[in-house]
Amino acid sequence: MIGKIIGLGSYLPDKVVTNDDLSRIVDTSDEWICERTGIRERHISDHKVETTSYMAGVAAQRAVADAGIEADTIDLIVAASTTPDTVFPTIACSVQKAVGASESCGCFDVNSACPGWIAAFLTAQSFIESGRARRALVVGAETLSNYVDWTDRGTCILFGDGAGCAVLEASEGDPVRSIMRSSCVRGDCLYCASMKQPDRLDDEEFIKSTYFQMAGRDVFRFAVTEVPKIITDVLNEAGVSSDDIDWFILHQANARIIEATAKKLKMDLSKFPMSLQGTGNTSSASIPSLMDVMKRDGRLVKGQKIVTASFGAGLTWDAAYFEY
Ligand code: UT7
Repeated sequence: MIGKIIGLGSYLPDKVVTNDDLSRIVDTSDEWICERTGIRERHISDHKVETTSYMAGVAAQRAVADAGIEADTIDLIVAASTTPDTVFPTIACSVQKAVGASESCGCFDVNSACPGWIAAFLTAQSFIESGRARRALVVGAETLSNYVDWTDRGTCILFGDGAGCAVLEASEGDPVRSIMRSSCVRGDCLYCASMKQPDRLDDEEFIKSTYFQMAGRDVFRFAVTEVPKIITDVLNEAGVSSDDIDWFILHQANARIIEATAKKLKMDLSKFPMSLQGTGNTSSASIPSLMDVMKRDGRLVKGQKIVTASFGAGLTWDAAYFEY
């Protein structure tokens, strides 16, 4: 048995921040951001209401409704996030509450930075393949705006908030093929030292330690080198040609990274859908949210062959091949 996706859902905060809005708070321009990243705007949460758990819960409710299943048939929830609201309980537990899943549902979180949703998806697949679960929710949710230094033009232009969720159901089918890789020796080019603490918001030094630190060029080079390689490797492992793939659904970080990947794979860019123009980089939420949009607009259709790949802090990167 493998886990087939039978439902998708996502959530984006109402508040939209455009590149022009950012150019009023840091020294940047719509032209620079569009040219270097492809991003035009991003959604930023109202932190009092749209917490990571809240957005995860709404995305999951939408995915469960899309799947048309009863919540008490869900026996596993795996949530990926780098920006949980609390150390514990987990986001998965808050999703359990939001969808009304029963106590016989196992809940836990994974943190593998931006590639976290694929890590959560593969974890849920293992539970389904081994017969330990039949229906699983796989969530990615982030409030990156909480961890961005809004005076640093090198990072604040890139990120946005949001959540996405897929419902998996045990079905007959070819196994999902996947590869996960990590390189801790390159880890210091993208890191965040501390988690936000509500009672230390006046402590300037501490607040600085909660900001993302990123060597953008190094991360860019890493991504355009490793993402095409890991995609080629996962296709070889699956014994599938890149021409047979309907969609390459990549982490939505930067249009230039996606374009470079398509070029290196000698594939038409039209097979690489993008949502980052309107969302920015939403880390672990980017892939399930994009799949939800593609399902709703009719691009994602049952039976299509999908490659998904992501990269981020750690450094970590992963890729999976599966039939939708
Ligand atoms: O999920 C993974 C998360 N991380 C990523 O995906 C990041 C990957 N890296 C990138 O996307 C790109 O490296 C960036 C978009 C972050 C930066 O683009 P770049 O083409 O690598 O620019 P750069 O850092 O080499 O900077 C070029 C110039 C610099 O000025 P000088 O030194 O040439 O005078 C920067 O100071 O652009 C300047 N710059 C900006 N200018 C206007 C940097 N950020 C901005 C900005 N607006 N927002």
